[in-house]
Order: sequence, then C-alpha cells, then structure tokens
Amino acid sequence: MQINVVIGEIQKQSAQAVVVNLFEGVIAPGGATGAVDQALGGQISALIAGGDFRGKKNEIAVLYPNGALPAKRVILVGLGKIEKFTLDIARQAAATAALKARELGATTLHTIVHGTGIGELDTQAAAQAVVEGTLLGLYRFHELRTQLEEERPDIETLVLVEQDERKEADIEDGANAGQIIAQGVALTRDLVNRPANIATPTHFAEVAQQVAKQQGLTYHILEKPEIEALGMHAFLSVNKGGGEPAKLVILEHNAKRDDLPAVALVGKGITFDTGGISLKPGADMHLMKGDMGGAAAVLGTMQAIGALDIPLRVVALMPLTENMPDAFASKPGDVVKSLKGLTIEIQNTDAEGRMILADALTYAGEYKPEAIFDIATLTGARVIALGSQAAAVMGDESLLERLRAAGEATRERVWPLPLFEEYGEQLKSLVADVRHIGGRPAGTITAGLFLSKFVPEGTPWAHIDIAGLDQEESKSGPYTPKGATGYGARLLIELLRKW
Ligand code: BES
Ligand code: MN
Ligand code: ZN
Repeated sequence: MQINVVIGEIQKQSAQAVVVNLFEGVIAPGGATGAVDQALGGQISALIAGGDFRGKKNEIAVLYPNGALPAKRVILVGLGKIEKFTLDIARQAAATAALKARELGATTLHTIVHGTGIGELDTQAAAQAVVEGTLLGLYRFHELRTQLEEERPDIETLVLVEQDERKEADIEDGANAGQIIAQGVALTRDLVNRPANIATPTHFAEVAQQVAKQQGLTYHILEKPEIEALGMHAFLSVNKGGGEPAKLVILEHNAKRDDLPAVALVGKGITFDTGGISLKPGADMHLMKGDMGGAAAVLGTMQAIGALDIPLRVVALMPLTENMPDAFASKPGDVVKSLKGLTIEIQNTDAEGRMILADALTYAGEYKPEAIFDIATLTGARVIALGSQAAAVMGDESLLERLRAAGEATRERVWPLPLFEEYGEQLKSLVADVRHIGGRPAGTITAGLFLSKFVPEGTPWAHIDIAGLDQEESKSGPYTPKGATGYGARLLIELLRKW
C-alpha cells in the first residue's frame, strides 16, 4: 500500500472516503470532526443529538456530503470514552474505518490521525498505530484462491491528513515504522496461513533467505547432515518420523557489529505437528499447520528490524521440521542425547517443540548473546490457563519486565508463570538425566523448566508460550482477521526497538 502524509484540512480533501472520529459523550464535535460537521451543515451533531451515534468504541457511521465537501463519503468512527482511550483503540478505530471503506468499494482512503487531538497520544506513536491498524485490519490471505469475484478490491493508498505542519515529520516517521511492522506481521501471518504441504521447512528456509537478501541480513543454514554432525539429537529425534528433512535457519542483523549488544531469538518451527507416534486426535489437527508460529514471528521480526535498521545485533535461530509418525519415528520411552550432553527420555512424542528448542537454545550460546528469548506454540495448557488474552512468559525477571512493557504497548500481552525449582521433581526420569514431560499439572511451567536446562550457563533467558494464539477461529478484533494472527511479531519488534 502507498502511504502519504498530507498537511491540510480533512474537509477539503477530494477523496473517495475521509475518516473522522468521535469520543463517546461529546455533543459538539471539535477539531477535524467539528470542521467536517460544519461543512456538512451539522449532520454529525444531528446524528449525536438524535441518539443515532454515541461514539462507542468501533461504532461506525457513513455520511454522504453530496457536494457539501469534495469527498464522496465521510466515515465516522467511535473512540469510546476519553478516560479509557489508548493507543490500541486508535489502532482498532483505524482498522474499523478501513474495513468499512473497503466494504464500500473505496480504493483510497484519507484519514485523520486518531488520538492526536484531545486524545493526547504521542504523534509518532499515533501515526504508527493508525497505519498498523489499517494494514493489519485489511490483511487478507488470497494466494491460494482462484476465484475472487465477491471480494472488494484492495485499498491502494492511505493518506494521513494533518493540519499542523509541525507534526509532519513525526507522522512520517510513525507511518513508516507502522508500515514496516505491519509488513513483518503480514509475513508471519502468511507463513502460518500457508498449509503444511506448501510451508515446508524447505519453503520456510527459502522465504528466510529472501528476507535476508532484501534486508541485508546474514543468512546461514545448517542442513540435516550438519545438525547430525553437531550432535543435536533432541532436535533430530523429532525429524526421525520421516517427511521433510530438518533444517536450522540462522539469520543475523548487524552480524559484524561486535560493538553492539546481541540478543538471540529462537522460534519453534514445527511446520506440521501430527503428534508423531503419540498421534493427536483428528478433530483440530489441521490447526497444527500453525505450529511454526514461533519461528514465523521471529522471521517477521527479523524482516522488520532489518528494515528499521535498529542498532542492535540480533541473531534468529529457527529449527524447522515436521513431526510425523512412521516406522523410524521416535517412540515413547526412547532416550536421546542433546547437544548440551544431557540425556532425555521422550515420554510422549507430541511434546516435540521443547526437543527442537532445547538444542537451538544451547546452540544460541555460540553467538554469546546478552539475552535469549524463545517463542513457541508449546503447550495446550497455556490455552487453558490464559485463553486468548495473553501469552505465558517464564524466565529471567528483568527480561519478563521488558516483555511486559512491550506487551502493553502492542496489546500482545504476556503474563508470567513461576519456574519454581520444586516443579522440577515432575521432570525426573527413571532412566535418563531428564524426562521431557511432567504430566498434566502445570504443563506450561514444566515445559518452561525443561527448556531452562538447555539455556547456556549464565545467559539471561525468557520463554514465551503462544500456543493457540497463532490462529483465531473467529475474528477477535478489528485488526485481527480470522486465521493467522501474527502473534508475537509486534511484541518482539517492540521489545527490540526499546532495548
Ligand atoms: N503444538 C502443540 C501445542 C499446541 C496446542 C499448540 C494447542 C497450539 C494449540 C505441542 O507440540 C503439544 O502437542 N503439546 C502437548 C504436550 C504434552 C504432550 C506434554 C500438549 O500441550 O498437549
Ligand atoms: Mn506436539
Ligand atoms: Zn507442537
């Protein structure tokens, strides 16, 4: 999408649609909305007075100026009560208005930057939110359809209209960041939406290579023979059931900058999780095409931080494999030796994510990062504990605090769970150093505790469990369409931008 910033008055724009807003409880609109109302001969005030528009969050009305302004339509979007207004509501309002405009067949859209008036948001942050909301809301996954007759065309141009020219530079910067971030999220969503017969480890690696090329990142891949030679038998145990060969894709931003602090990101990349020999029930198994949602969030993040050129060294490690059953597949009870040297008893081949992450976490130590984050669709228990409102996070307190702040800013919220040593009892094996599952109680925590054993000694680490957040079966908000959500990408980008 083309995004422009124009200094001028919204009521003077000749446009297919102009977007203005209203807080709940306002009777006489001011600012840009007031100017449009005046030009429309008080139509907006009349809507309010008649009780037909109350300014509730994401409420929408369309007005037809019929020559009173150069624009063909005015879209009015509600922002809710001013006391409860946040950046996220600006993001949602932008998405709501953009979806309405597309539904009406508009292909260009002129909008004010929600929240920069009496909403008192920071100008740059508000512009970023408006662009993010618009692009995330308008996202569609079309690449596998051959018939699109009923679909409205894409909105091709978004124009941010601002009166005050002193705000121009901030709006430009915010809009640019918002577009880059939304493109990162779109990449994450595309990879999750893409079915497992297309989004194989090979495909994922190709996409990663393209991203690296476009953003000037360093691309490195460990193919299966190298993974074997290194001794990553925890990772390899998941790949034994055949299918696509395992790969470990490594991207680096600012690889040569030893002067910069390094942060490592590790993403679970199971391109399809059948459960292996501990086969999953059929009912929701199709959702397991999203079991590379962690790796996809990491790749979306790398694309964005490359484009934003953030002043950090960032290493991304993405272990990729399917989890399939066949005659050579790992069996419950098998014992394998991890890269770290610990022997692991596999008790349920459906707990595969932690096996591939274990070796990738250990390998991350090669890059001497000052912090490691892993992100994974790891446990069904996370869905039970927190539902759709927060990812579960565990690990180093100072990293959890950074994640919390990034989660609030992006509304990809996180909530901590404790890694009390006592839970470790559940991971004792009769035959090996460690058992890789701890039974049903505290399943998200014991998965986190298991991972902690493979983190390089002395390196601060945090684990982000996003199981079930990678896809939504119903539309969960104005900028989160059905299907892949891209959860985690905005969280990680914000985390690294604020590092
Ligand atoms: N990929 C699943 C976790 C998952 C569940 C993701 C629901 C998205 C939605 C993971 O590999 C898994 O199967 N975990 C098991 C672990 C158990 C066998 C200890 C689980 O949570 O049931
Ligand atoms: Mn599994
Ligand atoms: Zn899995």
